[in-house]
Parts: sequence; C-alpha cells; structure tokens
Amino acid sequence: MTEITEDWAAAFTLPEPGNMMENHANREQVFIRQGTRMAATIRTCIETYTGRPITDQRILDFGCGVGRVAMPLYHYFRKPDVCVDVDAAAIRYLRPQIPDAACRVTRFDPPLPFRDRAFDAVFSVSIWTHLNADSAEAWLAEIRRILKPGGYAFLTTSSYTMLQIRRSNMVTAALGWAEVSDEMLRETGFVFIETPSTRGTGTYGLASHDPAYIRREWSRHMEVVDILPGAILGGQDMNVLRKGD
Ligand SMILES: C[S@@+](CC[C@H](N)C(=O)[O-])C[C@H]1O[C@@H](n2cnc3c(N)ncnc32)[C@H](O)[C@@H]1O
Repeated sequence: MTEITEDWAAAFTLPEPGNMMENHANREQVFIRQGTRMAATIRTCIETYTGRPITDQRILDFGCGVGRVAMPLYHYFRKPDVCVDVDAAAIRYLRPQIPDAACRVTRFDPPLPFRDRAFDAVFSVSIWTHLNADSAEAWLAEIRRILKPGGYAFLTTSSYTMLQIRRSNMVTAALGWAEVSDEMLRETGFVFIETPSTRGTGTYGLASHDPAYIRREWSRHMEVVDILPGAILGGQDMNVLRKGD
C-alpha cells in the first residue's frame, strides 16, 4: 500500500508565505507536516468507508485553498479530480501545481458548476468551520446533489477542543468566543461568530458544532455514518456522510 510521506513537498513550488495560512518562521515545515497528516487521514477515510481504492473514484476537494491536502494526494494518487475554492489567488497558484486536476474558482453560494451525481466522494477540510447556519445548510444540500447515490462526503467541523482553543486565544476570545461555554454549545448545538473582515455580510466567520447537533440536523440531508472526534490534526472532527442509494 502506498504510504503518504513528506516527500511530496519536493515535487511542488510551495505557496508564498502570505498564502500559506501561517506566518511563523517554520511555516513551510508546518504546512508540509499538516498536509501530509491530513491527506493520510482523508485517504484512509475514503478507502475505509467506500471500500474502494481512492484511485478508482472521482473526487472533489471542496474549499481546497492552496492545496495543503490536494497536493500530497495528487502526488501519490493523481487525486482529487477537481478542486474548487472561492479564492481566485489560491486557485491561480494551485492550477499549475496539479495540472491533471481541474481547479476552478467557484461562488460563495451554491450551485457548483457540476451535474447531479458527478462525484463518488467529496472531502472538505475546514469549510463548515467558517459557514453560518444558512450557508452550511445550503452547501450540505448541494454536496448531496453532486454525489452519486451511495457516495460519501467527508466534512470537518470544530467542536469542544477547538472551542477551548478559541476561548484562550487572544484574537478569537476578543471576537466573542471568550463567552462561549461548553454548556452553551451543548445546549444550542451550533455557534457562529462573524469575522470582522466580513462584518455586515453575516456569512463568513468561525463556527462550532456539537456532534449531537450534526447527527440530528445533518441527517436531514445525508446519513451521518460516523463522527470521528479530532481526526484532523487532533482539532477538527471528521463527519462521514453517505448519500442514500
Ligand atoms: C481554512 S481554509 C482551508 C483550505 C484547505 N481545505 C486546507 O485545509 O488547507 C478555508 C478555505 O475555504 C474556502 N471557502 C470558504 N467558503 C467557501 C465556499 N463557499 N466555497 C468554496 N470555498 C470556500 C476559503 O477560500 C479557504 O480557502
């Protein structure tokens, strides 16, 4: 079985610092390490739940950013087939890095420019962690639309581990996360706080999900097969969803 190691990084021009989502001195190392670990998790999830090799499936990375997960998967498996993001600069960077994949700039709101039942699997790392309730709902319906019957979605969310981090981080605490207790998240199931840069749009910010809320609410769209706490770098939960036959 092909093992995903950090070797992939040598085959790519890594993104400019400002595009890497990190700006500390060892950002390249962190980007490579995180990409490697996340790609391995996504690959294991896809193969375990679908029961088929990743190479046999048509796969979408929804909200690919600068390809932290897409580049390692591409290096070893020539996957994903399609990467989309609203960030045109990120897509401009990523396109020549993974030339056999289709990289597209898409709109903040559905629909995606794909036909119904176009994909066997969709993965999305750290997107629902930023969407408000209406967007989250609209995108769940859209992901369901583009999945084949029996297809899987692997979508990450933040719950209690990240909530603790947001309460203790100065920047996020000041945005309002300091007042969000575990009890509050347990009671409401979902908390969203807009980020200042998008204030007024009400659409982009930070979201926290209680796993019980996901099982209850997301199952209106697809079967919630599993929730893997902390599966993404110990911080975000992996929600495994299956579209019915
Ligand atoms: C935290 S980054 C994660 C990027 C990538 N998945 C990773 O793990 O490295 C969130 C990404 O979601 C993208 N995004 C946010 N809303 C989106 C939407 N409605 N459709 C597509 N991409 C979106 C942002 O532009 C950004 O690149």
